[in-house]
Amino acid sequence: MLDPTAHHPAEAGADAADFTRRRTFAIISHPDAGKTTLTEKLLLASGAIRQAGQVKARGERRRTRSDWMEIEQQRGISVTSSVMTFERDGIVFNLLDTPGHSDFSEDTYRTLSAVDAAVMVIDAAKGIESQTRKLFEVCRLRDIPIFTFINKVDRESLDPVGLMDDIAATLALDLTPHTWPVGMGTDFRGIIDVPAKRALFAQERGGPLVHEVKFEDPIDLLGLDLPGVPERIVEEAVESLSLALGVLPPFDLESFREGHLSPVFFGSAIKEAGVGELLNGLGGFGPSPLPRNANGRVVEPAEANVSGFVFKVQANMDPNHRDRVAFVRLCSGVFKRGMKLFNAREKRHMAIANPIFFFAQERETVDEAVAGDIIGIPNHGMLRVGDTLSEGETIRFEGIPDFAPEILRRVLLADPMKSKQLAKALHDMAEEGVVQVLRPLTDPAPIVGVVGTLQLDVLASRLEKEYGVPIRYESVSFVTARWVTGERAEVERFVETSRSSIAQDRDDAAVYLARSQWVLDRAIEEWPKLKFVAVKERG
Ligand code: G4P
Repeated sequence: MLDPTAHHPAEAGADAADFTRRRTFAIISHPDAGKTTLTEKLLLASGAIRQAGQVKARGERRRTRSDWMEIEQQRGISVTSSVMTFERDGIVFNLLDTPGHSDFSEDTYRTLSAVDAAVMVIDAAKGIESQTRKLFEVCRLRDIPIFTFINKVDRESLDPVGLMDDIAATLALDLTPHTWPVGMGTDFRGIIDVPAKRALFAQERGGPLVHEVKFEDPIDLLGLDLPGVPERIVEEAVESLSLALGVLPPFDLESFREGHLSPVFFGSAIKEAGVGELLNGLGGFGPSPLPRNANGRVVEPAEANVSGFVFKVQANMDPNHRDRVAFVRLCSGVFKRGMKLFNAREKRHMAIANPIFFFAQERETVDEAVAGDIIGIPNHGMLRVGDTLSEGETIRFEGIPDFAPEILRRVLLADPMKSKQLAKALHDMAEEGVVQVLRPLTDPAPIVGVVGTLQLDVLASRLEKEYGVPIRYESVSFVTARWVTGERAEVERFVETSRSSIAQDRDDAAVYLARSQWVLDRAIEEWPKLKFVAVKERG
């Protein structure tokens, strides 16, 4: 057993306590709300990149479906951009990329299992959109604290108070203003940072926000002679801000940390307005790595021994090689290059010889990582999503689930001689988390399950290009799948009576394939001792 109170031996370099300086977060948004632009400006604001355009190029390349698949095949791009680590004022930020395409995949869910906070980017002209909402719901499942960034205030936008009301009502989330826009659209002239009691103004329409004014109360901004900022615009901003402060709850750290209250940052990523304030917020009151629940105990980030879990597995740069990189979120201890870690599922130690550390800048000296950090571990298929690594203790972290697939297809081979290759390829793809593979008891053709249709295209394309196994899909008469759990004898009895609707997943767990919602409801009613679950914890 780990001793949480054990003192870490005094060694040069990182200390487990360094985790308090880590902020591990993701940006969630609907496509086009400005995630790529904001990412780039965060990197710029931290000094991690020097010129705009480096992140942007990636955003553009994944605009269309086929472009996106090209990128997925040129794995290298996504491996290095999956995690961006940058530093400002002594705080190390680990920004995890959630896949940007509009289709939903399990990858997204799992990435959110590895963060401690999320920035929700909303287009000021559109409010909450479908994808934002879905991603938000995933964050809510884990009570992840949310920063709200209302972007594009330099464009014609909805009224700020109305926008906040709308978001609060749609998501059933409390909001509180943190920064406030001075004018929107062509009127946009500045940003008021409420808690910092300071405002930044442009000196001309469209100009950079260079003119700083300190205040005690936002009212103090009225009547000031601000060059290039018409009085009317300041008056309207102060009036709407006062209204918002009057009707909305004040900031409360506990409520924020529990995921109930979100501070709202108005800004314009493209104009770098409100971005520094957001970073200050993330660094200032964003959560550092939190304790994590594991089987029967809580793993504290300050514990001396290393633990972490694999939240994502990605094929490596060269599609012709089966190398993969497992992305591990560290939950405790100080990881050092060359360490041996224990894989609880395989009950084996593995030497981590060439871990990848992610820094936006060259940082050759970095070869240690603490809780909150992400390391990439190249391997030949030994690590799968959900695996836990430790220094010997068998730990299973909660919260890296499999989701019941919503789309099911039978996989048919173009060349029946290749069934062995297909089995291997599907096994690999399942380990990577690209799809779930179900083996029906009464049919030799495997069924693949996904939560978004784009995953089907990716699977077919990769099977052909990387494994030389062309396939086609056939629709099945099942509409949904559920894991069947309960007492072993009862599960076996159910499996025997429903054989033609049962498949096994990769862990040989029983999965019930239902032909309609009605059929599923009936099974639930007729088998009260069983559970038909849509989310299965891994490990
Ligand atoms: P995404 O990653 O969330 O999909 O969004 P992305 O950053 O790619 O931004 C989508 C579009 O919105 C881009 O325009 C981008 O320039 C624009 N945008 C992002 N932030 C702001 C902002 O604060 N203000 C304004 N006015 N526009 C913003 P595009 O026309 O698709 O690309 P581009 O031609 O501008 O490069």
